[in-house]
Amino acid sequence: MPVDGLRFERLRCFEWGEVDFGGAPTLLSGMNGSGKTTILEAIYLLSRGRSFRTGHPTQLIRRGCQAFGIEATIPVSSGSRSVRLTYDEKFNLSIDRQTATIREVTEILPLTLMDAEIAEIVLGGPEQRRKLLDWLMFHVEQESWRHWKQYRRALRQWQWALRTGMDGTIWVERMMEGIPRIESARKRLIEACLPFWQEAFESLFPGISWSLEYRSGIPSGVNLVEALRDWHPQRAERPLAPGPHRAEIEIELNGVPARQILSRGQAKLLSIGLMWGGAHFLAKKLAPRPLLLIDDFSSELDNVAQARLLNLLAHEPVQVIVTTVHPPRREETPRPYRLFHVEQGCIRSTASW
Ligand SMILES: Nc1ncnc2c1ncn2[C@@H]1O[C@H](COP(=O)(O)OP(=O)(O)OP(=O)(O)O)[C@@H](O)[C@H]1O
Ligand SMILES: [Mg+2]
Repeated sequence: MPVDGLRFERLRCFEWGEVDFGGAPTLLSGMNGSGKTTILEAIYLLSRGRSFRTGHPTQLIRRGCQAFGIEATIPVSSGSRSVRLTYDEKFNLSIDRQTATIREVTEILPLTLMDAEIAEIVLGGPEQRRKLLDWLMFHVEQESWRHWKQYRRALRQWQWALRTGMDGTIWVERMMEGIPRIESARKRLIEACLPFWQEAFESLFPGISWSLEYRSGIPSGVNLVEALRDWHPQRAERPLAPGPHRAEIEIELNGVPARQILSRGQAKLLSIGLMWGGAHFLAKKLAPRPLLLIDDFSSELDNVAQARLLNLLAHEPVQVIVTTVHPPRREETPRPYRLFHVEQGCIRSTASW
């Protein structure tokens, strides 16, 4: 269970707040400005040591106060850990009262936030879908991740050499070194996630046939070394050179690219399904259960889509915490969800459904 209990004080609109998640899937409902996103922000701050809304920690302190604090109980195999973050002119992070690093906390509390931009995974450019691969690779293919970082560094150097008229051969060589590892890691990840993505797709879009394929960013028959040696951005058909940085995950529905036919709501549904699948794959590989935070989950989704999504998200072992302005109807919500109602900085538990 990644998060059991959460307590915080003097955070944004809250004098103090307490939520007992009990590791269960959780729905936080409430009107605009009631404090729902602030609760997700509190968990995010704890795990990442920064907010997803502001780079100025003082904005997080409740108006008129001097400091804020957040604390969570995180069950681990050997018992439970108490993680605490305070801000009083600077951040102080501790695990069981011992000073800790962000990395140590992220390791026991791995989380992913999905906000209004989530549909971009499907609707946006290939870089949005590559982020999905980056996320997975970062967690479970550390050696390949190192090669991918090195490749991107060499790519930037090579592009700079091209712009300044210098010889970029050395950078092309560096880029080549990592490509086989990056490619095979990506293919492995996609293959491993496919069963989960299939499960998500069947639950969210019953009766529709779909496919997902990896395109490496290197057109077949192209010798990359030669292509890059003769590369000249002004003479090329496309300004961006081929390579793994151009890779694409092609998702098609009934043979048509998903982003060309899906509505925004459907794209949001599919994007969350892809993240869900990735998180379930990670859950098999990592000891702590991944946590998905979904802000404003109900926007753009009709009742049927919401019900399907809530059903999918209720599956163990990934824990989800979702916020919504309109709480879905009790009879349409799967049993394990815990519901909390947030009202002007005050959190009220509604019995488990
Ligand atoms: N430093 C602060 N001190 C006091 N109140 C603040 C501070 N920062 C933000 N607020 C207020 O906290 C409230 C909670 O904001 P939050 O974004 O959590 O609401 P929400 O429930 O997610 O709303 P929505 O449904 O519109 O997304 C807002 O009214 C906001 O103006
Ligand atoms: Mg909000």
